[in-house]
Amino acid sequence: MAQVTGARAAGAPWAMLAELTHACPLRCPYCSNPTELAARSSELTTAEWRRILQEAAALGVVHCHLSGGEPLLRRDLAEIVAAADRAGVYTQLVTSGVGLTERRVDELAAAGVRSVQLSVQSATAGESDRIAGVASFERKERAAAAVIASGLPLGLNVVLHRANLDAIAEIIELGLAWGVERIELANTQFYGWGLRNRSALLPTREQLARAEAVVREYREKTEVELIWVVPDYFDGVPKPCMGGWGAISITVAPDGRVLPCPAAYDLPLELPNARDRRLGWIWERSPAFNAYRGTGWMREPCASCPRRELDFGGCRCQAYALTGDASRTDPACALSPDHGLVEGLVAGGAWTYRRAAPSGDGRDRRAP
Ligand code: SF4
Ligand code: FES
Repeated sequence: MAQVTGARAAGAPWAMLAELTHACPLRCPYCSNPTELAARSSELTTAEWRRILQEAAALGVVHCHLSGGEPLLRRDLAEIVAAADRAGVYTQLVTSGVGLTERRVDELAAAGVRSVQLSVQSATAGESDRIAGVASFERKERAAAAVIASGLPLGLNVVLHRANLDAIAEIIELGLAWGVERIELANTQFYGWGLRNRSALLPTREQLARAEAVVREYREKTEVELIWVVPDYFDGVPKPCMGGWGAISITVAPDGRVLPCPAAYDLPLELPNARDRRLGWIWERSPAFNAYRGTGWMREPCASCPRRELDFGGCRCQAYALTGDASRTDPACALSPDHGLVEGLVAGGAWTYRRAAPSGDGRDRRAP
């Protein structure tokens, strides 16, 4: 691992989220990407990604999620995978499955991708397509078969909300039928575009209790790993978001901005850019990465709370989105003076589908 010196002692990041593009064929209403997406014309080049991956490896990164948007929309995806592999960084492809043909799977496997995480929106074609806003379920099914045929490990990722929580048993059965090794059942986190659809997506307490009971039952009867990502607003306990700010992971946006968290686009931070600065400097010294590191920035009630080293005061992005001040205690915490902002929220209404990323060059980027 490269030695970096900095204004304060920061451990090395071990994980990187590489958002290769914000363009996506789907229109999911829960999308946590920012409301203002990076234009395709602003995206990093292959050579820039190659350099960033080398810098990431030198900094200590060993695992990289290749995500977006839809990373398959990058024609140079196999070159980026190969660059990561040469740098010694393990890559996982995070995809909608749209465009993941057998040929593409084989090309990526040959380049060194180690696993695939496939999203699905519900258990049936009709419901999955309705939530995605685009007919895509059949292509996901074919993509899953192609990944299994290639021998790569396959995981399923399902974002949960009011419209699909009651189908959780069928969703798990779908994953088992597709031959996955792991199913991530992630209750919606309300960031970016998803925050504007919060009322339409918010589940009931009863739905959550029923779904969690189903997950417990399946854990008894299947070897497949079932990850239940708890919802934010219901038990008064904040999540230890990102494992702490600037503590273990680094996000690189399609246009080179570097963030301590994938939802931090809207925070009032001067985001450094990998086009201008080396990742080592960004990680160690940039004001953005140091803004909420450790516990020194905390105010009460976090500053004297015995849980402050366990949950780091919760989520900075949520504190900012809900209170306009990222240094306040996460309103998800029952001890927060702002907890009323997440209690008694009124659910209901229709969602608005995600709008597409601007191309910046007048071309349509919807179809892969
Ligand atoms: Fe965590 Fe702060 Fe709440 Fe304590 S007061 S539990 S440190 S968010
Ligand atoms: Fe950004 Fe929690 S989502 S710190």
